[in-house]
Amino acid sequence: MAKAKTAYVCSECGASFTRWQGQCGECGAWNTLSEFVIEPASSAKSGAGQARSSWAGRVDAAEVTALRDVSQDEQARVSTTIGEFDRVLGGGLVEGSVVLVGGDPGIGKSTLLLQALALMSATQPAIYVTGEESLAQVAGRARRLGLPLDDLNALAETCVEKILARATSAKPRPRLLVADSIQTLWSDTLTSAPGSVSQVRESAAKLVRFAKETGTSVFLVGHVTKEGGIAGPRVLEHMVDAVLYFEGESGSRFRVLRAFKNRFGAVNELGVFAMSDKGLKEVPNPSAIFLSGSSTAQPGSAVMVTREGTRPLLVEVQALVDQSPLANPRRVTLGLEQNRLAMLLAVLHRHGGVGVFDQDVFVNVVGGIRVQETAADLPVLLAVLSSLRDRPLAEKTVAFGEVGLSGEIRPVPNGEERLKEAATHGFKRAIVPKANVPKPGQFKGLEVIAVERLAQALDAAG
Ligand code: TYD
Ligand code: MG
Repeated sequence: MAKAKTAYVCSECGASFTRWQGQCGECGAWNTLSEFVIEPASSAKSGAGQARSSWAGRVDAAEVTALRDVSQDEQARVSTTIGEFDRVLGGGLVEGSVVLVGGDPGIGKSTLLLQALALMSATQPAIYVTGEESLAQVAGRARRLGLPLDDLNALAETCVEKILARATSAKPRPRLLVADSIQTLWSDTLTSAPGSVSQVRESAAKLVRFAKETGTSVFLVGHVTKEGGIAGPRVLEHMVDAVLYFEGESGSRFRVLRAFKNRFGAVNELGVFAMSDKGLKEVPNPSAIFLSGSSTAQPGSAVMVTREGTRPLLVEVQALVDQSPLANPRRVTLGLEQNRLAMLLAVLHRHGGVGVFDQDVFVNVVGGIRVQETAADLPVLLAVLSSLRDRPLAEKTVAFGEVGLSGEIRPVPNGEERLKEAATHGFKRAIVPKANVPKPGQFKGLEVIAVERLAQALDAAG
């Protein structure tokens, strides 16, 4: 087949070159050129000019439709048979959608998708395309996990054109396809090496087109690179319908699947799994698994009720504050945003009268989960203060609340639901924003302490 016409385009200024070069000749940026297909090999004759002149005569163009006439069932969903997976997808997999599952190498992406695909293949034809492992390895893993293998087909191939040729000619036609991983795929229309940004983008684009044209649902597995983006600069996120991240600490047996983008459901929804020798098991009631498990309160530890997605979770925040030998003391966070910590420490100094400018501050969310909501502000500061003073918070205390730049404690959504969860798990005291305080007597055995200002909250923590 004739090669497609490609060009190297600068991601900074859009200048186009015929050959790759390290620096863009137009804007001077380094390492910004990547390869693009500008004319597919098969349609070499229908050049841009020709297409333009024949616009009026295009009968195969899509029709303009009134939205009220569009039926809902076009978004038919199928269950992945794994409840937590369905929850993150927004209630099941939408047919013909493309879902990117990203995560660190070794976190369990292949295991999760193999499990889901094996179970789903009982009701619809499915292909597991592996570019990383041999068929024997995939089969061995599936057997070890005790999965039903009868209906599951696998294909060891990395050329995306060959994969699509196989998928379209397979009998019966697959309704589901997993590509593990997108970084191993390459398209023969490009000359750059597999794994390069251009190859990853082109391979994904071909799979997306295939999904939309045939109504096949496609899962793409992507390894997160050191910089945190999937395949480098997050090139795939805008092309797919949903981006899910599979996260967890390597030491912990819990894994969290989080929706980062979802055209068919809520983002920030969490699905929780526990690893076992028989694969991933769902944890449908994950509320208290992210507490460290120590029975007595420790200095530097605070428990918060976070509400990522649609259910509350009790999560422990740990802080370590220590004399710094450095001129610029360190602010390190795991599972929280680092800039937010720097801001909170400034508020702590200005409105709480507690300076930590000569101290290193480390903050960690236990269990490898990531908390993005501002309700973590107050517990983070309570944990920092507790570590600084080497004094634990009172036993069985939870906290949540956003801390504003002027030292005010602002309410967070779903306060009552969070308090209910804390009461259910036997917590005795809750330090919460004033506007989140429920009617008196609503939660028996839980003393709710309302705070409006940071100074009040620090006093309440003791
Ligand atoms: P794997 O699914 O291969 O990770 P990824 O595709 O993200 O790189 O899992 C890594 C290893 O962990 C693999 O050797 C299997 C093992 N594992 C279990 O034993 N049990 C489990 O529940 C999971 C998820 C993984
Ligand atoms: Mg893998």
